[in-house]
Amino acid sequence: MSIIILGIESSCDDTSAAILKDGVVLSNVIASQKVHEAYGGVVPELASRAHQQNIIPVVTQALKLADIRADEVTAIAFTRGPGLLGSLLVGTSFAKGFAIAKQIPMIEVNHLQAHILANFIKEQGIETRHPQFPFLTLLVSGGNSQLIVVRDYLDMEVIGQTIDDAAGEAYDKCAKVMGLGYPGGPIIDRLAKEGNPERFSFNKPQIPNLDYSFSGLKTSFLYSIRDEIKNDPDFIRHNLNDLCASLQKAIIDILMSKLKKAAKQTGIKQIAIGGGVSANSGLQKAVHEEADRLGWDVYIPRLGFSLDNAGMVAVTGYYKYLQSQFIGLDAPADARMSLKI
Ligand code: KG4
Repeated sequence: MSIIILGIESSCDDTSAAILKDGVVLSNVIASQKVHEAYGGVVPELASRAHQQNIIPVVTQALKLADIRADEVTAIAFTRGPGLLGSLLVGTSFAKGFAIAKQIPMIEVNHLQAHILANFIKEQGIETRHPQFPFLTLLVSGGNSQLIVVRDYLDMEVIGQTIDDAAGEAYDKCAKVMGLGYPGGPIIDRLAKEGNPERFSFNKPQIPNLDYSFSGLKTSFLYSIRDEIKNDPDFIRHNLNDLCASLQKAIIDILMSKLKKAAKQTGIKQIAIGGGVSANSGLQKAVHEEADRLGWDVYIPRLGFSLDNAGMVAVTGYYKYLQSQFIGLDAPADARMSLKI
């Protein structure tokens, strides 16, 4: 009998549902929330309300596109954390209601683990490469920057992480300083292509181990601009592309230096990158250049599966289903759920 998993993702500002049949994604519907753009960042209460509005239509659409009836679903996998509590509550409550109504098991999914297992998503009629164990993941999103050794689908160890801001947060906050929109990462990435990355330099963190720090860079960026604006009130507009290119170079240099260090320390040459910032063109280029130099095998999920999506939740749910890792109806949403596997 086929194993059909309904995956639900609602940890931040994307409401998503996916159907996975025997490990193959049949549908992956994502409703992104435009409401936050006006505020330059995600407004938690507005996110919860939008999830509440979106969740039923998104699940209905995912079932329809997959041509699967609700009573054919074998188990429901949902993101229990980490993320915004109100947002997580919508997905968690929906999963509980669905599980009770259909008398099926529930599977909790850690959002970060799901980003990593996005590398194992299979799509109908599309050839995809998957990493071999053990592999090293650089997980970079709006909320996380982590280096993780992945020994098996459900056996992972965090060997480095940010001690303050995440890389995506640095992109978003610096974009806000420059008056660009939200999310700032893709906008800076686009403008950076037209600018000179050597034009400005910003403070780099001096953290000895495999941990990251981005708050110093953000402050250094802010202060440099504040000083320049005293001489030229239109400094940002006159130098926008160079500012973006230089900032992007600084963020990528920080990310790459620890990734290279981790690869050297562990001796692992299978490298995966995941999370929203993995869509960054400069980061992808830098990883591929190092791959050529150091003989790495590189894996990056395609865009639809690297940003927040339920396909990655469903695939994680599938591997947990195979190990009968179910959870009871009393499971609370967990905003600070850590990646303890
Ligand atoms: O993984 P994700 O969709 O959500 C979280 O779980 O955080 O990541 C969103 C983050 C945002 O900070 C956004 O600015 C960043 O990913 N991002 C990018 C790019 N696309 C998205 N950052 C840099 N370059 C991009 N092309």
